[in-house]
Amino acid sequence: MCSIIGYKGQLIVAPVLVDSLKRMEYRGYDSVGIATINNGKILLKKGVGKVVDVNKNLDLSSMDGHIGIGHTRWATHGGVTEKNAHPHYGCTDSIAIVHNGIIENHSELMEELIELGHVFKSDTDSEVIAHLLERYYAEHKNIKSSMIETCRRLKGYYAFVAAFEDGTICGSRYNEPLVIGLADTGYFISSDILGFIGYTDKAIFLDNRDIVVLDSKTLQIYDQDGKTVKRTLTQVAWELAAIDKGKYAHHTLKEIHEQPSVVEKIGIQNLDKIEEFCSILKNSKAVFLTGSGTSYHCALIAKHILSNFAKIHAETVVSSEFQYTLDGIDNSSVLLALSQSGETADVLQAVKAAKNVGAKILSIVNIPTSSLAKISDSFLTIECGPEIGVAATKSFTAQLSLIYMIVDTLCNGYLGFKVNKQFLVGALREALDYEIEIRGIAEKLRDARDIYVLGRSIHYPIALEGALKIKELSYIHAEGIAAGELKHGPLALIDRNSYVIIINPNDSTSDNNIASAHEVKARGATIIGISNTPNEVYDIFIKIPFIQCNAIYPIIEVLPLQILAYYLSLVKNIDPDYPRNLAKSVTVK
Ligand code: G6P
Repeated sequence: MCSIIGYKGQLIVAPVLVDSLKRMEYRGYDSVGIATINNGKILLKKGVGKVVDVNKNLDLSSMDGHIGIGHTRWATHGGVTEKNAHPHYGCTDSIAIVHNGIIENHSELMEELIELGHVFKSDTDSEVIAHLLERYYAEHKNIKSSMIETCRRLKGYYAFVAAFEDGTICGSRYNEPLVIGLADTGYFISSDILGFIGYTDKAIFLDNRDIVVLDSKTLQIYDQDGKTVKRTLTQVAWELAAIDKGKYAHHTLKEIHEQPSVVEKIGIQNLDKIEEFCSILKNSKAVFLTGSGTSYHCALIAKHILSNFAKIHAETVVSSEFQYTLDGIDNSSVLLALSQSGETADVLQAVKAAKNVGAKILSIVNIPTSSLAKISDSFLTIECGPEIGVAATKSFTAQLSLIYMIVDTLCNGYLGFKVNKQFLVGALREALDYEIEIRGIAEKLRDARDIYVLGRSIHYPIALEGALKIKELSYIHAEGIAAGELKHGPLALIDRNSYVIIINPNDSTSDNNIASAHEVKARGATIIGISNTPNEVYDIFIKIPFIQCNAIYPIIEVLPLQILAYYLSLVKNIDPDYPRNLAKSVTVK
């Protein structure tokens, strides 16, 4: 999604804003802009592209002043153009705003404002906020009142920061995050703690409809009726500041390599919480699992192992569909929601729907201060550090490992995760040693048009996840297919140009997988086997290490697929950290 930032303090603002926007760019990277206030004038620069490129062309960081706002965009309303990039002025350059979210009633508000003589310059829904502020400021000559009136008129989801030419910075939120950072050198208002974590670890998370006003003297927070409210000061983890790429060419590669140590640490500090989760899961009449994208694939594996090892039947519903399938969920149910960011709008909506019918909410998140963690009855953290690459990698193996810990606890160790954890960590390290070979395979697949990924049973969700990684990072059409379903339709797609990846560790699914491999090979496809055992049917073989406990192979076999997707992006000249049209945290429905 979009990232927004405001700063007022002792530092020269422009380089601070550019630095913050770079840190938050994973939220959206279509276009960038900043506005600074100096000597009662707002100066604005914006352009299409990533922060470094726009900064190179426009020299954003050379702007003067100590007060300013900034934005990186993930387009929702209006194309990716300079005029649609934020900040937006109203009719004059006396007020500028940056916005994240969707103003659902923007057409109606625009019509009303046009009647009053306002002229709109962009195709965005966001610009309406600047004009509303301008209108109410002209009426009241009071910034706080114009903020209250403006927020009352907005329908939809929003977090916005506004800059007034007198040097006041304001912000408000509704169902989109907005956090204040309190540094010795000034105040930040940001959509994400990464916006200011290099400057301070003291944060105030605003509640829905709070209004923050930062004038020449103070920082005040008001509720929607203008009454002063106090919000708790939270100390956030400094580790989140560690977002450099280190020795790696990309965040995605670094995050792939972090997986053994992430898995090694998983759950250690959370043993009491894991027990609490287990007791809630055991005592619920019905268990539902939800998530979006990669987190949903983790939910699919959770369903398998909960049923096979803990004998707990669970329903999985992808979050964007949850609201349409509420039958069967009530106050004796539990919903376990998985989300790296804890801010995905579809997940939050699913959770709210379940809460409305009285279900208990458990969640697994990476960010303990996220909206999802806040609305859950209990949450566990995967503690894998910030994940910057848009395609989830280490957060997936961390979520999976935590789920395995929970299920292993539920079945008193019968799953074998805890006793095999150290072997697993070793196996993950070994799997990473095949990086060079996999890079060579990516070269061979450079011109692939279609890649099919097959898996059975517990490996099917990994087939889905592998295909998702290939789509996201290389833009090659890829499909995850339950291997047994091949003959029921997908086989019609297979020809000499097809590449078929078979996930086939030597377990009970293996013989059937080999049969499927022969079926596609007979139609001319090139077969890539991911297995611990070679087989003559594989044209290309990706070796994964042996491990005693078959049930934990999903955590290992996803690694070669991530590495393959990463190198496919490089051979196709794609920046793997910022694939086109995507955003790391999708906070709109
Ligand atoms: C976006 C990202 C995906 C991610 C999904 C869910 O679509 O591009 O990589 O899997 O959101 O994110 P979450 O933070 O809820 O796990």
